[in-house]
Amino acid sequence: MPGEHPEPSQRAVVGLRVNGEDHRIDVDTRASLLDVLREQLGLTGAKKGCDHGQCGACTVLLDGRRANACLAFAVAHDGAEVRTIEGLAGEDLHPVQAAFVEHDGFQCGYCTPGQICSAVGMLDELARGWPSFAGGDELGADEVRERMSGNICRCGAYPGIVAAILEAGR
Ligand code: FES
Ligand code: FES
Repeated sequence: MPGEHPEPSQRAVVGLRVNGEDHRIDVDTRASLLDVLREQLGLTGAKKGCDHGQCGACTVLLDGRRANACLAFAVAHDGAEVRTIEGLAGEDLHPVQAAFVEHDGFQCGYCTPGQICSAVGMLDELARGWPSFAGGDELGADEVRERMSGNICRCGAYPGIVAAILEAGR
């Protein structure tokens, strides 16, 4: 009718390269990247803890940088490259995964995919020369705790998590 505005479309097709595979996905424009990964691509490794950017359980690598997938609109990342916990291992575990096993860096495991993806991204930040908070060239426990402060573990497995990341960082 004259004067009426059409409803804006609430769906869009986005292209995402996820763990090396290209996808074209019809998404709700309000859907988070986390929901698209879990519910449309069946990649349930990234976990929904708070759904508010507070816990880090949903951390993935988005264009090579760690990101909270619950805070990212999928539609805003057309063409992006995403790596989830499912895409880290090759024939062997990723060194960070192996270090988590070695150092008991988990209890219930709910936070673990996010911890590991975040640690991989964090070690890459350091490798790219991001300045240290604590000073010095050697990666220390304080630096790891500070850089991983966005990833909460309600089981309190922090000693193992920090030890694993320190080992992987070496
Ligand atoms: S579920 Fe994304 S930060 Fe908690
Ligand atoms: S291992 Fe249970 S929340 Fe971290």
